[in-house]
Amino acid sequence: MSTPQTDNADRQFDRRLSEQNSLLQHRLRQLYGHTPGFEPWYAQLLDQLRQLHRERSTALQALDAAREADPGWFQHQTMLGYCSYVDRFGGDLQGVRSRIDYLRELGVRYLHLLPFLRARAGDSDGGFAVASFDEIEPRLGSMEDLEALTADLRAAGISLCSDLVLNHVADDHPWARAAAAGDAHHRAFFHCFADRTEPDAYEQTLVQIFPRTAPGNFTYVEALNAWVWTTFFPYQWDLNYANPAVFAEIAQAMLRLANRGVDVFRLDSAPYIWKRPGTDCRNQPEAHWVLQALRAVAKLVAPGVLLKAEAIVPTPELAPYFGTGDAHGRECDLAYHSSAMAACWAAVAEQRTDLLQSVIASMPPLPARGSWITYIRCHDDIGWNVLRPDAEANGGLQRLSKVARFYSGVDADSFAEGTSFQADDADGIHGSNGMSASLLGRNRARSTLEREQAERRLHLLHGVALTLGGLPLLYMGDELGMTNDDSDDSRAAQKIDGRWLQRPPLDLTRLQQRHDPDTEAGRLYQRLRNMIQLRGHLASLSADAPLTLLPSAQPALLAYQRGGDFVMLANFSSEALQIDLSSLGLDAGATWHDRLANASVSTTSLTLDAWSQRWLQRIG
Ligand code: GLC
Repeated sequence: MSTPQTDNADRQFDRRLSEQNSLLQHRLRQLYGHTPGFEPWYAQLLDQLRQLHRERSTALQALDAAREADPGWFQHQTMLGYCSYVDRFGGDLQGVRSRIDYLRELGVRYLHLLPFLRARAGDSDGGFAVASFDEIEPRLGSMEDLEALTADLRAAGISLCSDLVLNHVADDHPWARAAAAGDAHHRAFFHCFADRTEPDAYEQTLVQIFPRTAPGNFTYVEALNAWVWTTFFPYQWDLNYANPAVFAEIAQAMLRLANRGVDVFRLDSAPYIWKRPGTDCRNQPEAHWVLQALRAVAKLVAPGVLLKAEAIVPTPELAPYFGTGDAHGRECDLAYHSSAMAACWAAVAEQRTDLLQSVIASMPPLPARGSWITYIRCHDDIGWNVLRPDAEANGGLQRLSKVARFYSGVDADSFAEGTSFQADDADGIHGSNGMSASLLGRNRARSTLEREQAERRLHLLHGVALTLGGLPLLYMGDELGMTNDDSDDSRAAQKIDGRWLQRPPLDLTRLQQRHDPDTEAGRLYQRLRNMIQLRGHLASLSADAPLTLLPSAQPALLAYQRGGDFVMLANFSSEALQIDLSSLGLDAGATWHDRLANASVSTTSLTLDAWSQRWLQRIG
């Protein structure tokens, strides 16, 4: 029925359609044009999108309009992200609401809550095996709770990011159940093979995500009498994006969540969604087309929404997630900078920064409205494979083996307390687990000096994440120096999946101590908060300000310039460094102010203490 509201909404929709239709239709035609009934399918999709647009609330439409008018809203230097599990942070969605004041105090403007949709019964990969896109995991609350939370967050100026697990669904998702019950329509949502011929051929070139706990990429499913593609755990069935019905379902699931108030979608495991024989089935051109089409539908129905790529791949493969060619700037708005993250950890272990510099040097300029997610830890392992190209070009892969060993917990000379992930031995280069503070030496510190150095390292890595350029994302607990989870529950969970080491519940004692400078939590929290606040005043740290690596003859030094007036100096070693500013190629006549120390820099030569950093601002 036509009403003034729907007419108005439809006019907006038509305006946006005129902007998006060409790319959307082109991409979907490339992907599905050859399938029978493409034209009516596309017309039906547009009708479904129009309906979803009509259902968008007035508050969300206002948000869309504001963001359309200010498309760089998420690139501002005051943007700060925070990532946590719902239960770990607040117990449930209502509990998260009660922590909004804390997030505001810290300066958070973007909250990524790890999966909160109804998860598979039993093991669920921390919720990444989704059983329903339209229900909340019952122990975390209800859809009403989600809407109440998003409304409160919006009022507090905080965007909510939700995972959109688009590569797979749980084996108890209705689509999988229907397939198992013999429904041919839903069987075609998955990659099913009658025998091992094709799986064996694919395995020749596929990578293994969980080589120890879930080896292989295919699982025999009795009910289907077929081998099903399962890149991750056997209970996570990969979706078949060559089927247009899968695209239409996922797009609508995303938009229904957007209409509940989700602002940002983390596109989980985005590289894996398209399969091609003879390749590693990652980063295929069609995967990019699917994401571009997904973005176009988001811009059509919910233009305030952002898409974030979770593509844990080396830098050269990462940049295309922002879109290339005619889709430059029209794919994802955000992408995790996983190679910079991993390279920071390598720099700590090696006390040299050349891999990190290599990563920074190979970072391409981003589209005007694209931004990295800069971070140091998350719920996953630190994956070393993203650094393979950089290591191969700089001394070889054995460097990564040594780095992995450094964090494995078995190296007596290391200050790090972590575990190796999915590798057959401590030198294997798959990944490393652990909370930042533990990996940075907090648990093994035996003296005040060692403890102080561990604290400095924590701030140093956060300093890089805050200044490198992008939207910095804190991982819950790091702001308070929380350490590895060695509770009995966690230990039991780690037997199946070692990543539970870095998923402890929020430490309420530390939370309470955060304003007390005599406590470790207080020292760490206050300094980090100062850094966050200072960053907010430095326009050169907005995500779109240019980044220039500064040359340095000192292996442990990382130096870069941001914008016209900001220089970061980071010492990744346990020795003090003497730095001559003119040797960095900086203007010899310039005058600098050390913003972190709030002190003027009187000479061009300065001392950078072990594991310390300077935030220099040019004042003359
Ligand atoms: C992403 C998640 C990870 C999960 C995987 C499979 O990489 O970050 O935790 O295991 O996807 O969904």
